Amino acid sequence: METQKKILLTGGLGYIGSHTATVFADAGYDLIIIDNLSNSHEDTLEVLKKLCPSKIKFYDADLRNYEDIEKIFEKHALEIWFVLHFAAKKSVGESCQDPFLYYDHNINGSINLLQAMEKTGVKNIIFSSSATVYDSENILPPFTEGDRTRTINPYGTTKLMIEQLLRDMVMHKWFNAIALRYFNPIGAHPSHEIGENPKGIPTNLLPFILRVVEGKIDKLEVFGDDYDTPDGTCIRDYIHVMDVAEAHFAAARYLHERNLVNETSDMYTAEPIFETVNVGTGYGKSVAEMIAIVENVVDTEVPHVVVGRRSGDTPVSLANPLKAKKLFNREAKRTIMQAVEDARNYLQITKKISE
Ligand code: NAD
Ligand code: WQD
Repeated sequence: METQKKILLTGGLGYIGSHTATVFADAGYDLIIIDNLSNSHEDTLEVLKKLCPSKIKFYDADLRNYEDIEKIFEKHALEIWFVLHFAAKKSVGESCQDPFLYYDHNINGSINLLQAMEKTGVKNIIFSSSATVYDSENILPPFTEGDRTRTINPYGTTKLMIEQLLRDMVMHKWFNAIALRYFNPIGAHPSHEIGENPKGIPTNLLPFILRVVEGKIDKLEVFGDDYDTPDGTCIRDYIHVMDVAEAHFAAARYLHERNLVNETSDMYTAEPIFETVNVGTGYGKSVAEMIAIVENVVDTEVPHVVVGRRSGDTPVSLANPLKAKKLFNREAKRTIMQAVEDARNYLQITKKISE
């Protein structure tokens, strides 16, 4: 692969962005990171600098400020091989309370990013989409990329709108774009120096359970055990975050090998490409099974109580992972047990539980 080129990551100090940064750095790419630190910590940058064998240039900038973003692209455009676009607000509940906030960060931020890319001739982008775009109430799992999409919260709607925006950029502005639809990323880097460390109380299952294990929260509330699943609790396709990170590298390699773009000019050698690709394992675990896995890893019981269903939860969310295998020759390699161990080790070693 091209080695003198750099990778620009928006949201590169966040959970998935920081893990993906290490994969590209290990492959020899220098990194440019844009992050406004709204849901990440500056010390992650220092850890990344330590873990990554390549150079990292960091911009504390907000995608919503077009001038700042344009300046960064004007400075670096000729060096940038790929943009990996992670930066977004990502809480479903918060998006229902404050839709404008989500449209502002996710939509306005993405428009600014794409506009700066277009203006400076940077045309390859991999976007963090989500399984939440599927019409899970009306389609049967596992979800396949061609299945119907429909969203029921502003967060999901922003993801679907950005996919559409990218499709238009590909059709009319010769971008190449891959929207990776992540299912449920969990776990941490094998160094256990970076991991999932959201600000505030987590809403996702594993970070929440691990806080219970650490004694920071009394007990887990299990949102419903009367679903039509074998043990009555919801099933999700949990995937190790390093498998998610490596999927980005495989997607970038796929575009590179298709030789779609002459990387240093505006000359194109083939039709531009847009793909949506699931990033999941195809295997599911229920909430009860996840509790049992954590109990096994930490060798102690996880206090929990069953409460009512959480509004908007789908009983079963599972990826059909075959497209990633077919296009990128990429499939998840790590187990859920490994992911839970890594997440736990990260919290233990770094003592990283945000208050
Ligand atoms: P994260 O919150 O840890 O990372 C996002 C990063 O973007 C943070 O560091 C935050 O400070 C930054 N950011 C947010 N708004 C910004 C803005 N306007 N300008 C600059 N930086 C900004 O989230 P994550 O879990 O790493 O998720 C990364 C991406 O993957 C998001 O787009 C998210 O919607 C998507 N995704 C996440 C999951 C998941 O379960 N974690 C699942 C599906 C999709
Ligand atoms: C998993 C399961 C809960 C917390 C969310 C977003 C989705 C995507 C991934 C970004 C569910 C149950 C959870 C708790 C519980 N993010 N649970 N008690 O809902 O699949 O997806 O994160 O795109 O958009 O919606 O993940 O981790 O919140 O929940 O019982 O305290 O755990 O009901 O069945 P979810 P999750």
